Amino acid sequence: MVKKSLPVIIMVIMGIFILTACTNEQQSDQSEKKDNDGTRNSELVLPDPQLKEGSKDEDVKQLNSILAKIGYTITDKNTFNSDTKLAIKDFQSQQVKLAATGIYDQDTKKWLKKTLDGTFKIEPGNGFAKEDVTASKAETITVTNPKDTLVLVNKHHALPTGFEPDDLVIPDVRFPFTEDIPKKYMRKEAADALEKMFAAGDKAGIDLFAQSGYRSYDRQQNLFDAYAAKDGMEAANKYSARPGESEHQSGLTMDITSPDIDYQLTIEFSDTDEGKWIKENAHNYGFIIRYPEDKEAITEYQYEPWHLRYVGKDAATVIYEKQITLEEYLGAV
Ligand code: DAL
Ligand code: ZN
Repeated sequence: MVKKSLPVIIMVIMGIFILTACTNEQQSDQSEKKDNDGTRNSELVLPDPQLKEGSKDEDVKQLNSILAKIGYTITDKNTFNSDTKLAIKDFQSQQVKLAATGIYDQDTKKWLKKTLDGTFKIEPGNGFAKEDVTASKAETITVTNPKDTLVLVNKHHALPTGFEPDDLVIPDVRFPFTEDIPKKYMRKEAADALEKMFAAGDKAGIDLFAQSGYRSYDRQQNLFDAYAAKDGMEAANKYSARPGESEHQSGLTMDITSPDIDYQLTIEFSDTDEGKWIKENAHNYGFIIRYPEDKEAITEYQYEPWHLRYVGKDAATVIYEKQITLEEYLGAV
């Protein structure tokens, strides 16, 4: 009796299962339609990355509609235009794991998805446009965020004249000299990271030395004046910053060297075991090579394989992986 009725029971259960699934599908379809905000929510799909600036197609419309839904002002949803790029830059600059390139890439898609599902919150307009990174090449502004580990200091973004970090310490690492002088100092967070990096370097069998860290505005003024007297202002400014425009004043920088090059700060550092190790590992400790080779057009300084800038591990990793500069990471290009 049970055996005979088993197929019937199975069929009834399957029928109930199919009916329930259909009803659920209809309900979810309807609830998506209720979310209607001009463009049906159920139709908004993050497109595949690498949409080109200026392009117009259904994917661009989807992306623009999603940016508008998040809260950005997009005047023409059909075109990937300056509104789109600015919105993306602004979005990216609110997530340290993204470079503010304005390019819609795989990582940006991932974080946009998190914003849509509510797991990553941003404030439209509170990112890029508000950062001290927007000076044009024709001007130099004084930044208002000198203590920010991501502060941009370059020929167009200067630190306040009197700025002096209030948490300078001497990192417990090797120096090729013994005196207690200002250039031994760094800000605490950067000093801790430097210590970890040197310890890892020791384990890897390399011989790193710290040569020059914090420099006051006045010290930079004296240095720059001396270089300018020797080489002329323009030539000096290719390797030495004007006062206020040196990252050394931020306390987030250390120039490093090795015995193989007699503790000098020269391009040959990049050919030493220490220089090679630094190039591949510094980001793991939050440091970047701030003036990379072939990036002079952006940084406006010649290659300095020894000048390490602390930006924190997340930003350093993005900068290392994408082989970009701090300017590109912050969208200041
Ligand atoms: N050498 C770098 C650019 C400085 O003077 O800060
Ligand atoms: Zn330096």
